[in-house]
Amino acid sequence: MASGTSRDVLGSGFRVLGRAIREQPRIFAVAVTGSVLFGLMVIASAYVIGGVVGKVVVPAIARGSVAGGTLALAAAALFGISLLRVVGIFGRRLGAGYMQYRLQAAYRRRVTRRYLELPLAWHHRNATGTLLSNANSDVEAAWYPIAPLPFAVGTLVMLVGAVVSLFLTDWALALVGLAVFPALFALNVVYSRRMAPRQARAQRLRAEVSGIAHESFDGALVVKTMGREAQETDRFAARAGELRDALIAVGKLRGVFDPMLETLPSLGTLAVLVVGAVRLQQGAINVTELVSVAFLFTVLAFPVRAIGWVLAELPRSVAGWDRVRRVLDATGEMPYGTRTLDPATPTPATLAFHDVHFGYEPAEAHLPGTEVLGEVSFTVPAGRTVALVGPTGAGKSTIASLAVRLVDPRAGTVTVDGVDVRELTAASLASTVALVAQVPFVFDDTVRANISLDRPGIGDDEVWAALRLAEADGFVAALPDGLDTMVGERGTSLSGGQRQRLTLARALAGRPRLLVLDDATSAVDPRVEAAILAGLRAPAGRTSADPEHRSPTPDHGGGAPASILVVAYRRATIALADEVIYLEHGRVLARGTHAELLATVPGYADLVTAYEQAEQEREQQHSYDEVTPLTSGLEIEVDR
Ligand SMILES: Nc1ncnc2c1ncn2[C@@H]1O[C@H](COP(=O)(O)OP(=O)(O)OP(=O)(O)O)[C@@H](O)[C@H]1O
Ligand SMILES: [Mg+2]
Repeated sequence: MASGTSRDVLGSGFRVLGRAIREQPRIFAVAVTGSVLFGLMVIASAYVIGGVVGKVVVPAIARGSVAGGTLALAAAALFGISLLRVVGIFGRRLGAGYMQYRLQAAYRRRVTRRYLELPLAWHHRNATGTLLSNANSDVEAAWYPIAPLPFAVGTLVMLVGAVVSLFLTDWALALVGLAVFPALFALNVVYSRRMAPRQARAQRLRAEVSGIAHESFDGALVVKTMGREAQETDRFAARAGELRDALIAVGKLRGVFDPMLETLPSLGTLAVLVVGAVRLQQGAINVTELVSVAFLFTVLAFPVRAIGWVLAELPRSVAGWDRVRRVLDATGEMPYGTRTLDPATPTPATLAFHDVHFGYEPAEAHLPGTEVLGEVSFTVPAGRTVALVGPTGAGKSTIASLAVRLVDPRAGTVTVDGVDVRELTAASLASTVALVAQVPFVFDDTVRANISLDRPGIGDDEVWAALRLAEADGFVAALPDGLDTMVGERGTSLSGGQRQRLTLARALAGRPRLLVLDDATSAVDPRVEAAILAGLRAPAGRTSADPEHRSPTPDHGGGAPASILVVAYRRATIALADEVIYLEHGRVLARGTHAELLATVPGYADLVTAYEQAEQEREQQHSYDEVTPLTSGLEIEVDR
């Protein structure tokens, strides 16, 4: 690939520029027209100045008097030229700015949209910091050369114009131009080739620095409680130091090449004066022509740098573009189907796993992926509640992800109402099933926005109904601004249990026909958890198993009754389920009612008893941070 090596960085860079021009052809045309106008006016100004010197100044020195008419004409011409130059600069600057920022905005949108399309597996492989830097500094880098590009294109036209006018003036002076201009171009090319690996390295380090910073801020709690501030700072400082060195290397190269690029046109002017003096003596040219050409070389020095700016930014642009393209070209998004599943009256849906096998993609492609789930088959009948029980790492969250199609199985099928979830449209899937994830995510927004997510048909009444079902209406009503209360980034102003209940209410507000609860009420106290679950159960499936439940009734208005797949730990919760599926090492070991499993499956009894003990210990100690080893050799985190 072109990114690292300097060999074909120019080729790749020109392809990136070509893409930019194809995307914004009209704005580019405006900017280049402005730039060409500017260039032609620069040449014209050189000839007018030459004319003034040859026709006004020199005769004036000889005669002792100024030709007023000619001088006025020259002044008017210069004024006109300056005006056109201003127009040219305006068009060029405006066009270049528009083009650069429009491309940046368009690609930021494309990159972020792509992030949301790509599957979870892709996100697991890519650090958040890198994604931030792809959408920010990489997009910026990719379109950086767009700013000087119209100037450079105009300058190329100007150089051709200059060489032509040199030939029209005198072949010897033209030869000087032919020596200097290509030399300038060659020097720029060498510069850009040398720059390529340095810029690529700097761009990669920018991403790494932002990645480390993001991770340590994100993990501020761990960093602080574990006393890792110094180590984290060191880790960051080391990478920031590398970035500094990389940028200094870029600066050093600039320091070497910039003066050379600056000096070359001055040497050209010197050569013109020497050669021109000889040609003047030979009578081949007159003073007007000599001054015009010498002045031309002087005024060309600056615009020619624009070509250097583009070439010098190309390596960085290619590096940024490669990183952006890696996101845009990433494959593995899960295409949605075309079938819909929206019955006239919302009734609970049936979920079924048929001989499902699944494994996460290995972190590196060459490593073998291990199977996380094998031969998993079960059904959640319409309106029923099925509990998923198993030791940590057994694959419960993985099953939850498969049920809502965050991931697709390697083999086997997951169906909702008999339809493979892969055949469903995104909208139908989203309106049918809802997952409340193990780790609740809350947006930095109001309570209302967090629950409705701007979905149609979810007004305040629906929000309150959902909050009631999630047993969250009480605490929300007590918040200072009620539904309008801002919850802070990731819901920092809420307790863990409050956050969980908000995410539960969010799922319920969409009136899903199948609810997947992945340990979604672990931070809620057991009484409330049982009440929530009992309230969610469809009337048909409701038993009077929960004496404590605070009489939520269907006319809560919250949602249609749903089928429920619930990852559960507490005995009281598990007991509410119509069926329990016991999972170990990604396999279904047993299924039946809670009582049946307790009686027949030793591992299950051990696990449930251990959970219960842990829960009791937790209540006794009011401690949320210990890990209890179990007799069965399993480990359970008590801080659920
Ligand atoms: N993104 C991932 N990439 C690779 N392996 C993963 C990933 N997520 C989970 N695993 C592995 O898959 C297995 C099942 O994980 P899963 O999260 O489904 O367990 P779980 O039953 O939900 O556990 P817990 O009770 O701790 O939530 C584990 O061995 C885990 O290490
Ligand atoms: Mg889990």
